[in-house]
Amino acid sequence: MSNGIISVDQAVSQLEDSKVVAIPTETVYGLAGRIDSEDALNLIFSTKKRPFFDPLIVHVSSVEQARTLVSWWPKEADLLAKGFWPGPLTIVLPKNKDSVSDLITSGLDSVAIRFPGHPIAQEVVKKLGVPLAAPSANMFGKTSPTSAEHVLEEFSSTIAVVDGGPADHGIESTVLELVESEKGSVTSVQIYRPGTITKSQIEACLGSTISVSYSQSKAAPGHVENHYQPNKPLYSFLGPYTKNEIQSELGNVLEGDSEIYFTELDEPCAIVARKLYSEMRKADKLAGSKKTLVMQIRNFDSSDSWTAIEDRLNRASRKLFKKA
Ligand code: TXA
Ligand code: MG
Repeated sequence: MSNGIISVDQAVSQLEDSKVVAIPTETVYGLAGRIDSEDALNLIFSTKKRPFFDPLIVHVSSVEQARTLVSWWPKEADLLAKGFWPGPLTIVLPKNKDSVSDLITSGLDSVAIRFPGHPIAQEVVKKLGVPLAAPSANMFGKTSPTSAEHVLEEFSSTIAVVDGGPADHGIESTVLELVESEKGSVTSVQIYRPGTITKSQIEACLGSTISVSYSQSKAAPGHVENHYQPNKPLYSFLGPYTKNEIQSELGNVLEGDSEIYFTELDEPCAIVARKLYSEMRKADKLAGSKKTLVMQIRNFDSSDSWTAIEDRLNRASRKLFKKA
């Protein structure tokens, strides 16, 4: 072991001992602990300084394992699992109270489940034989890590991490709930957190009889307004703003002539998602004495594929300007 980088087998053995370790997933790195250990779960919350009211996602390595965590598995869950698992989709369903503790779900009756696509995440869960609770491996409210290096920085090398390379998608999974009617069928799908899997992909997968909508979860206070934040205040510009337009907008909101550190991302959506968090971390580091970060996402448009990026930047920014 060097620099806190560990192998899959070392990670599994630490997890067996109810420790927490960071593992790669295709979205962002997760801070993982076994779901059947109260010590491990408490350690996740204390390491992140995460409030106990924010429920955790449980990671599985098969659909059969997912089914052991729930009290209801409707046919729509099968459709979504066939369509998007393993992958960046988290499905919220009524929990099996025998296998999922209140610590994981913050006392809710539902549990959020994900079958990650990253081969290392799958291997760790498979070898351990127990599902893993894993929030993003960052301090609460801060930017999610998309590389092993980010995790080491975030926790000053006190948390060991399996290096799985840079995360492919770069932003967190889409979180949705299948809402049950009194008759025991799915009446609607509520998307609580947009991600790489878009609303239209979900609609196409489920067919036209079920309504899919974005919604603020009462049950997920963790989806707070200020999140994903870099250390310095960030102002974001989505769309083809000119330098003059940016300057004039900033003139209205910044006091005095505060010096800014400017980042421009002009790639297509999938690349911007992959780079977004590492660019935020880089800006924080390179800004030096400049007090304000400004980020422009030039190719932004109002199509659904950009929704997740807009959502994250909205929460990460002091103010967001949009032209699309
Ligand atoms: O891509 C991801 O989902 C990453 C990787 C590591 O898997 N994980 C992640 O976890 O982003 P975290 O804890 O940072 O975000 C979990 C989100 C929170 O917004 C939480 O409120 C919501 O999922 N959530 C968890 N359980 C829920 C439930 N029972 N009902 C509604 N929302 C829930
Ligand atoms: Mg998080």
